[in-house]
Amino acid sequence: MTKAIPLNERIIVALDVENPEQAQQMVKRCESKISFFKVGLQLFMADWFHTVEWIQDRGHKVMLDLKFFDIPETVKLAIEQVNNRGISLATIHGNRPIVKAAVEARGDMKLLAVTVLTSFAESDIREMGMTGSISDLVIYRAKQALELGCDGIVSSGLEAQRLRAELGDDLLMVTPGIRPGAQVIGAADDQKRVMTAGKAIASGADHVVVGRPITKADDPLAIIEQMQDEITQVLSE
Ligand code: C5P
Repeated sequence: MTKAIPLNERIIVALDVENPEQAQQMVKRCESKISFFKVGLQLFMADWFHTVEWIQDRGHKVMLDLKFFDIPETVKLAIEQVNNRGISLATIHGNRPIVKAAVEARGDMKLLAVTVLTSFAESDIREMGMTGSISDLVIYRAKQALELGCDGIVSSGLEAQRLRAELGDDLLMVTPGIRPGAQVIGAADDQKRVMTAGKAIASGADHVVVGRPITKADDPLAIIEQMQDEITQVLSE
């Protein structure tokens, strides 16, 4: 069953920019259509919580994507610093004790565990000397995250269908690695496991995270509208 999520929150625009001025400019360009923005490492390093609060003051939601990964106690203390700031989604990365510590420290935020980065390909797994497929690893990590009390996961659209089938409807699934149709076959920057917005939502993603296809576009609103049309279409089928 599809969750009742407003169309302007289905796409989370990744504000991967250098400074708060650029971030604010991008928010202003997108906000007639988008009410969910992601602040990641680059922007957070530039101005800590200032842009986060500025976005919230304009009535929008924030995903804080810092992918905490450290010893469990350090992750717990970092999560405590982020709690109670009105952040909607935060990301962590890690094994059982790390995820457990983060979940215990979580206050009002929803926690997402990163499964396998979308810039990772099967060849990277082989290179690390690991056996098994990316898909199996994603399912294993997602199951573990849910068992430990995470609200959801970040994973590529390629695993979305299997995740929904095996883990059910409650799981909150956020999917980066989104490209407009033509780029899924062609250039996809450093992303390796990519999909269109419509296909990702049709496969079971609740939200898609989109950075460069929107932030580097001459006309970001045109790309957003095209992706939102795809999403509306698949949700009505
Ligand atoms: O520009 P692009 O659309 O590739 O940006 C994707 C965004 O999603 C980046 O901010 C990246 O950090 C983030 N992300 C990702 N893969 C994950 C988790 C987050 O690409 N597994």
